[in-house]
Amino acid sequence: MKISGTGVALPQLRVTNDMIAQYVDTSDEWISSRTGIKERPMISTESLIDLGAKAAKDAIAKAGLAPTDIDLFICSNVVNSYVTPSLACIIQGEIGATCPCFDINNACAGFMTAMDMADGYISSGKYKNILVVCAEEPSRIVDWKSRDACILFGDAASAAVLTAGDSLKTMKFSTKSMPDVLYYRRKLEYNPFLKKEEFNKPLQMNGRDVFKTAVSFSSADIKEVVEATGWKMEDVDMFVLHQANLRIIEAIRQRLDLPDEKVPHNVERMGNTSSACIPILLNELIEAGKIKKGDKLVFSAFGAGFSSAACTYVWE
Ligand code: COA
Repeated sequence: MKISGTGVALPQLRVTNDMIAQYVDTSDEWISSRTGIKERPMISTESLIDLGAKAAKDAIAKAGLAPTDIDLFICSNVVNSYVTPSLACIIQGEIGATCPCFDINNACAGFMTAMDMADGYISSGKYKNILVVCAEEPSRIVDWKSRDACILFGDAASAAVLTAGDSLKTMKFSTKSMPDVLYYRRKLEYNPFLKKEEFNKPLQMNGRDVFKTAVSFSSADIKEVVEATGWKMEDVDMFVLHQANLRIIEAIRQRLDLPDEKVPHNVERMGNTSSACIPILLNELIEAGKIKKGDKLVFSAFGAGFSSAACTYVWE
């Protein structure tokens, strides 16, 4: 499997830390020093469907394909205004694709989960061109009356077209059930037969536990896939990590003793856009000419679940 095109679509509004501090008890100083985040894109007028469609069209065009060439479309999404049908089904109509479609919900690990699935489909010969769109709108579920989590996230869509190739080397994907550290619950509106308590909870997060789990899972995953590929850590040209918090990225970098320049980040400008993070960063690196043919890459992502994934990849 290889990535043959990437695309990104961002909402116009950029929300700075000072803008958030107008609504909750926080400050630019606190957010910058604890997370590295200065601003993040946020949906104010756009629809996530339009952003997803725009990112998809961009990736398909860069892959040199037409929407009708796509054989399967997987959309990674945690929440959007529709519960059903899937976001992929809706975006399919917007871009003029005709293939089977479905959504996956694996939070920030969604892009890597879709990569793993796509690799299985492509290796089996079942599908040739697979579109993955990561369309995320965390601003819809964070608690805007509490400072705990709303400072971390951004809204965005990104996409990648995955086709047959020999770029993906080793993939590790794992889940450890830890629903209490990061979750969002919604109440059933009305059912006359319901005899149990139901409640709404905006996004709840135990920041410290998430931080520690993220650093230990991601570092272990990266070590494992690099070794399983027969590489040494110093062979890797670039580590494309999930953009949750600059301190998490820095802790992983230090734990693995990686040079600064091999661990790019954009969390300062993007915040955590959940599964959209990795394709956005990848797209930026490609556009800036920072990745060249033959480069050895590592991707690593983690998120609610707790799910975690990493892979080794040689750029074609
Ligand atoms: N603004 C100002 N103060 C805040 C704050 C905010 N937004 N959020 C928490 N605080 C306060 C706390 O109330 C606490 O005050 P106290 O010492 O008076 O009790 C203090 O800051 C320290 O809180 P703590 O939660 O220990 O801070 P932290 O250094 O762990 O940073 C996170 C909090 C959320 C930034 C950090 O834990 C983190 O990034 N975790 C990972 C979250 C994540 O990445 N989630 C998505 C994963 S995909």
